[in-house]
Amino acid sequence: MNKEDIAEVRSRANILEVVSEHVTMKRSGVNYSGLCPFHDEKGPSFSVRPDKGFFYCFGCHEKGDVFAFLMKKKGIEFPEAVRELAHKYGVQLVETVEQKEEYDKRTHILMLYQQASQYFSQLLKDPTDGVIARDYLEKRGIPEEIIDRFKIGYAGPTWDGLLSYLTSSTKVAPATLEEAGLVRRKADTNSYYDLFRNRLMIPICDDQGRVIAFGGRTLANDDAKYVNSPETPIYTKGRHLYAFNLAKETIKTEDAVIVVEGYFDAITPHQFGFTNTVATLGTALTEVQARSLVRYTESKRVYLAFDADPAGIKAVERGVETLKQVAEGVGIELRVIRIPGAKDPDECLRAPGGPEAFAHAIATAPLLIEYQLEQAIEDCDITSHAGKIEAARRLVPILAHIKKDVDRSEYVRQWSLRISIREEGLLNDVGQYRRDNQLGATPNRGPKQILNRATQRNSLKNVVLEAEMQLLALYLKSFDDYERVSLAMTNDSFLTPSFQIIKEAIDSLEGTFKNVEELQNKLMDILASDKDASAVLIDTILKADELRKQDMPVDLVIKHSKASLLKEKLKRVLTNLSALVGLTENDNDSIALQSKIKQLSALNSEYPSIEKFESLADVHEFKAKIESAMAAEAQTEDEPILETRA
Ligand code: UTP
Ligand code: MN
Repeated sequence: MNKEDIAEVRSRANILEVVSEHVTMKRSGVNYSGLCPFHDEKGPSFSVRPDKGFFYCFGCHEKGDVFAFLMKKKGIEFPEAVRELAHKYGVQLVETVEQKEEYDKRTHILMLYQQASQYFSQLLKDPTDGVIARDYLEKRGIPEEIIDRFKIGYAGPTWDGLLSYLTSSTKVAPATLEEAGLVRRKADTNSYYDLFRNRLMIPICDDQGRVIAFGGRTLANDDAKYVNSPETPIYTKGRHLYAFNLAKETIKTEDAVIVVEGYFDAITPHQFGFTNTVATLGTALTEVQARSLVRYTESKRVYLAFDADPAGIKAVERGVETLKQVAEGVGIELRVIRIPGAKDPDECLRAPGGPEAFAHAIATAPLLIEYQLEQAIEDCDITSHAGKIEAARRLVPILAHIKKDVDRSEYVRQWSLRISIREEGLLNDVGQYRRDNQLGATPNRGPKQILNRATQRNSLKNVVLEAEMQLLALYLKSFDDYERVSLAMTNDSFLTPSFQIIKEAIDSLEGTFKNVEELQNKLMDILASDKDASAVLIDTILKADELRKQDMPVDLVIKHSKASLLKEKLKRVLTNLSALVGLTENDNDSIALQSKIKQLSALNSEYPSIEKFESLADVHEFKAKIESAMAAEAQTEDEPILETRA
């Protein structure tokens, strides 16, 4: 996709119009506001600035341009958002040949799946051919309405039902159907046959409800209970969750999602009103899947309704640990539905009193961690001495993996009581396990550890962000300011990665714009596919607005920001050097370090506050001094800290 096209689409697309298709917007000043579609709220904090071409939510801070809006709202990728808007606003996209081919291929395969799904549905409804499958569904208690909702179909026993249907109705080549994963080729021949035969066909859909694969359940006690579609250009295993498209809305309104393992374990809960159920399809939850679960439940609950197995042994195989890690970051509550009678959700719900039992199991679902602890000691006889020891041995690794200190010690307390052993004993073992397996805070192993880039980045203070934001915003304030600030920043780079990306984008334009609006639009285009940088760009545009209103003298802002950055950097260098002193084993190194610290401290006190810098020249002189002091250091020590960027 070329930049001109993207720019053309952006300029023709009306963000207000696009947003208004999804959200009711009301005018307020230059803004339009409405209820945010990305988080739950009562008052309107979602605003659109048609003049600037972006949206911003004051509640959840989601923001972006018209493409970002569509991507987020529809769960699609950037190119798809561009294509959609290009189509809507009549822009003809010229894409690279490869991209065009890839896109056409995907579109074609999607079409084939849609037709295949229709074919299977028709066959299921066929008065004679569909009898076996309909009987099967009836025996399993699946009504017409559910068959339609899940687009369930039937593949007949012949070897070429779908093959001949598709090749005659759409004139598609069998080789294409093979690539689409719908037929197979007999080895060393040119003849093809259907992948799915005599099976109940269960379409797997993407988030938008388009069929992208099938699961086919045998109706003849075949050894392979299920045959599933292979990966194709439209289907990657571990990306999608079964029934997600049907569960999305309830997941949002209930703010909870139920995760099961099988096709029918998802279908049946939907039939009984638990419409926030999705399935993993027998494979381990991947990080992508974990993230999509977490995205739609905002910050609330994920219920796991997996088949019961002893001691939760399969938890790892099932990707529960992955989910745990992803959820931990965002504060999701993971709970386990203990299905009565150790059945799968499908069987449970269909048993007498099943729906009530299932609802009760949800209402009383323990936290995953508690469930895991419980399962671990299930078969230990904690009345015996040996049993207690065994129980403690099994509890230790689970307890040791609890991230938060407070939670961990509380669980240690509870569970030592539970198996009646001394709390200190269990606590010691857990501590030892954590040390042995290097869980928790990583110990300092030397200067490199302290000074690695990640630490530096984490220690970036608000001072830095604020100063860098001011500088970047000046580029966008007015054309005049652009020239002045770009001159002042010629040899400087930003510490915050997204800021630096924006600066490089600005530099790459080499002044080929007539005003700041044009600069702004060009930047949006260049950065469109970089979510972080685009978000920072919008903050910057807002900041530039603010600066324009305040009418601050530009030179003062430049001087002030650059000075704060320098001071901040010097402060960090000093902190890091001081930390190094304690770690150097060699006396000479230590002495050299201390003299360096003295030198830099002296420099630092030359300008005790930012106000002491009288002009930009002062700032530049100060910078040169720091750099020469540090350059001397760089020859003796080769540490990343001494990289000077700001
Ligand atoms: P199960 O064997 O528990 O099947 O596999 P099920 O879902 O309960 O099916 P019914 O009730 O017997 O009809 C759980 C899931 O694992 C995957 C399928 O997604 C299945 O729904 N699976 C299982 C396969 O992909 N292939 C298989 O051969 C078996
Ligand atoms: Mn089952």
